[in-house]
Amino acid sequence: MGNNQLSSITLQGSRIVVAGGTSGIGFAVAEAAAKSGAEVIIASSKPERVAAALERLPQGTRGEPLDFSDEAQVRAFFARVGAFDHLVYTAGETLLLQNLADLSIEAAQRAFEVRYWGALKAVKYGAPLIRAGGSITLTSGVASSRPLPAWTIPSSILGAIESLTRTLAVELAPLRVNAVAPGVLRTALWDNMSEADREGLYDYIAEKMPVRRVGEASDVAQTYLYLMQQGFSTGQVIVVDGGHVLV
Ligand SMILES: NC(=O)c1ccc[n+]([C@@H]2O[C@H](COP(=O)([O-])OP(=O)(O)OC[C@H]3O[C@@H](n4cnc5c(N)ncnc54)[C@H](OP(=O)(O)O)[C@@H]3O)[C@@H](O)[C@H]2O)c1
Repeated sequence: MGNNQLSSITLQGSRIVVAGGTSGIGFAVAEAAAKSGAEVIIASSKPERVAAALERLPQGTRGEPLDFSDEAQVRAFFARVGAFDHLVYTAGETLLLQNLADLSIEAAQRAFEVRYWGALKAVKYGAPLIRAGGSITLTSGVASSRPLPAWTIPSSILGAIESLTRTLAVELAPLRVNAVAPGVLRTALWDNMSEADREGLYDYIAEKMPVRRVGEASDVAQTYLYLMQQGFSTGQVIVVDGGHVLV
């Protein structure tokens, strides 16, 4: 096994790009990876969020403002980054939750921009720079296999991400490509709801769930690290949802 492959098994000294690493899941992945000795580079669209995240992340973490819906920005970003070991994609916006009858098709198409097309752009320009033994981990969600009314668009995006994961695992082999499908987590993703509605949602879900709580970003960050460090899984979607899919 070459040195490059060894460096992917221990994160110490590896270089990791976290797209969406300024908040929620991405931030938790960036923090856990940096604490494991990786050199982490985070990117998200709002400069103030990048600056705030860098203040809280371990020293040595780097970051750049970058809109993953903009192909030219994504291409230029990876050209600046150069060779690295692991790509994690968690960038995503507020969910478009709407019954089909009320759904604007234009808004529905736009909703794929960051979650799906952004992930594809990141892989297109990032994958050629990933060293042997490295990996890509994308983000799905439990709503892919456990949809609810009004979730047509978010669930469709997740389905597309899961198929993309399997297809890329075949096309980019031996580079490993996997995805994590989290259940409901306490992150800024839900900040567009009023606090009362949000807490109501968390309580409703927690009561139903086998683990009796909603998740934290740190609960799922460990799964991204696991997929980077073990060298045999590819094309897989790992559900980390407190048992949500069962109920
Ligand atoms: N939280 C959950 O319950 C849950 C469950 C299942 C799946 N997921 C999925 O997991 C992903 C991450 O969710 P999260 O909970 O970590 O959300 P979050 O806390 O809101 O973080 C989203 C991240 O994406 C970045 N982002 C948004 N638009 C971007 C763009 N155009 N270019 C670059 N970065 C962009 C945000 O930073 P900027 O604002 O600076 O751009 C932020 O860093 C999402 O795709 C979400 O749907 C979340």
